[in-house]
Amino acid sequence: MDKFVIQGGTPLVGFIPTSGAKNSALPVLAAALLTADEVVLRRIPRVRDIRTMVRLLVDIGSDINVNGETVTLKTPKIVSPEAPYELVKTMRASSLVLGPLVARAGRARVSLPGGCGIGARPINYHLSGLERLGAVITQDHGYIEAAAPNGLRGAHIVFDRITVTGTEDILMAATLARGETVIENAAREPEVVDLANLLVKMGAKLEGAGTSTIRVQGVTELHGADHEIIADRIEAGTFVIAGLMTGGALNITGCIPEHLGALTAKLTQAGARISQPDSTTLRVEPSGTLRAIDMSTEEYPGFATDLQAQYMAIMTQANGISIVTETIFENRFMHAQELQRMGANIRLDGRKAIIAGKSQLSGAGVIASDLRASASLVLAALVARGETVIDRVYHIDRGYERIEAKLSAVGAQIQRVE
Ligand code: EPU
Repeated sequence: MDKFVIQGGTPLVGFIPTSGAKNSALPVLAAALLTADEVVLRRIPRVRDIRTMVRLLVDIGSDINVNGETVTLKTPKIVSPEAPYELVKTMRASSLVLGPLVARAGRARVSLPGGCGIGARPINYHLSGLERLGAVITQDHGYIEAAAPNGLRGAHIVFDRITVTGTEDILMAATLARGETVIENAAREPEVVDLANLLVKMGAKLEGAGTSTIRVQGVTELHGADHEIIADRIEAGTFVIAGLMTGGALNITGCIPEHLGALTAKLTQAGARISQPDSTTLRVEPSGTLRAIDMSTEEYPGFATDLQAQYMAIMTQANGISIVTETIFENRFMHAQELQRMGANIRLDGRKAIIAGKSQLSGAGVIASDLRASASLVLAALVARGETVIDRVYHIDRGYERIEAKLSAVGAQIQRVE
């Protein structure tokens, strides 16, 4: 298992590029199942979750060619409408094939995900949405079977709670359902909009993506398309924090600054100097010691839960007490204990973390527990005194493309060792 060895204390300076968004890439890859034609997807990040999704789609029946960041898919026929436990347990987003499979093949068999490092993460809203669209759902041996042999029909779906992949799953299914579907309390994340843009290119009729009500007029068939996905706002946000924490002058290029509004607003309030030299770049400059500012995660356009761990890392370096509240997942504070081992002063109280700063962090052996938790440990290590060894970096490889190469190119002392 690979580890990162990091020597803290060097400011990050220069230009660091942003990759395509993992959480856009996953649903758009699944969307290719909706047509027999060729779908070309560009700027797909080379991360482990994407390789897992590609494996799943190949098993289902897609012919796939991966050429750098361009993935070309063609699925003349659904050979096996199934997502097995071995894949679903490593990547919950496998459930994104559920909607497209039922819509295209009239049948899907997908393993139930079970719990994971950050919470229970059930898929009940995906299932009740599909039921509303007319699918019959049964459960057996840990698998969900969804069947709609005569096709899906449009329906009015109100999500009890905002769900990102749930919205994406139902949106994809609805494109091929008979008649109109209205999805209310839909997720408004930029990744949902990106998926909707691809679906429209494929011939889907829909409006309202990016708002909480999406309307879809079902069509009988979708066709091929060519689509470049959006920049990864979580990766870009992680780099913004890295630049600030190390006191560097760092330009995060190829990003979409509007997608990072909640983060940059909080950091600016804390005293960070962040500017936008052009429409796709964010620049951070040495800002002195920041002030502690409370933060609560929310669905988009609120503060992303996927940046909570990284925000906690920077708050250990801010003066004063900040309270970070996690409202989306029930168990997403695993990084707190590891940050404490590096000298952070953090107390957990249910869904709140109380951080007292500024702490001098010192290098230690730590363990990455999930994707974003690992990112927060990398950030802490970049400012810690001495050497930090982060174990189980396969977690970070799920969603960050060559993070060690990108960070060393702007001055970080980070090495991957086997
Ligand atoms: N939930 C249910 N039932 C459902 C669906 C969700 O109870 O059927 C709950 C979840 O357990 C959670 C909340 O609703 O407490 C929100 O979950 P959501 O469905 O929005 O999460 P997701 O779609 O599974 C996506 C991202 C996550 C990101 C969350 C929240 C992808 C592939 N994954 O997950 O990304 O944290 O939205 O923004 O888009 C990551 O990239 O590190 C990551 C975990």
